[in-house]
Amino acid sequence: MYLVSARDMLRKAKAGHYAVGHFNINNLEWTKAILETAEEQQSPVILGVSEGAGKYMGGFDVVVGMVNGLLKDLDISVPVALHLDHGTYDGCYKCLRAGFSSIMFDGSSLPIDENVAKTTELIKEAHRHGISIEAEVGAIGGEEDGVIGAGECADPAECKKIADLGVDFLAAGIGNIHGVYPENWQGLSFETLEKVKVAVGEMPLVLHGGSGIPADQVKKAITLGVSKVNVNTECQIVFTEATRKYFEENKDKAPKGFDPRKVLKPGYGAIKEMVKEKMELFGSVGKA
Ligand code: 13P
Repeated sequence: MYLVSARDMLRKAKAGHYAVGHFNINNLEWTKAILETAEEQQSPVILGVSEGAGKYMGGFDVVVGMVNGLLKDLDISVPVALHLDHGTYDGCYKCLRAGFSSIMFDGSSLPIDENVAKTTELIKEAHRHGISIEAEVGAIGGEEDGVIGAGECADPAECKKIADLGVDFLAAGIGNIHGVYPENWQGLSFETLEKVKVAVGEMPLVLHGGSGIPADQVKKAITLGVSKVNVNTECQIVFTEATRKYFEENKDKAPKGFDPRKVLKPGYGAIKEMVKEKMELFGSVGKA
């Protein structure tokens, strides 16, 4: 199977009242774990790549080469989209050229007029290349310089303005934040989500900061039009915990225990379990 745009995948999810998981990738183990789980669960999947992770892996061409190679060598048959996460204007163009099948332009920090102008241009470019595009309204909070900000709630009128430009799916802030949620987090604003849903009609919505949101809130968000849930932090946490356990149990001191393939195996297994759990929660199992 070749990479596909996320457009049809998410329209189908919206109509079927489930969501497709967007899982961020950081390296080969991550990517392989997510693709293998998607195939085992017969679930569509979106591989998310931030600009930082793309740089870490060597560049967007490396990412495209690695993902396409895995699709072929692992004989992956489920629909897979390779998506730029929170892209800058320049990053979007780089990914278009490198062969990504989906991009997100994050113009949420720009004045609305500039966000509109750049999003309009990028929609045209993305669709000319046959790939999907996500836009964002209402900055999604998170930890910045040690200060944890509350997630912003998007203005439904602004959401409509951006949706009407022709984006394929829209991330709207509804009190969600990236990273670990603070103890005193107020939960998702379903009031905002309902207003956004009414404003944008059939447009599939995206829930960022999908790690650590209670399952009942995720399910409710899906019933209100969320068709893509982004998860990164929880995979990072379980990967690191499993790797720490390997060393705490002195497995690296066992014969050949220093082999990196052995060191990274528990973390790889932990990502697989987490991805499976999320696919079950999002309702995408068997929907390939
Ligand atoms: P978390 O790291 O909070 O899961 O958020 C991921 C995300 O939204 C990527 O865009």
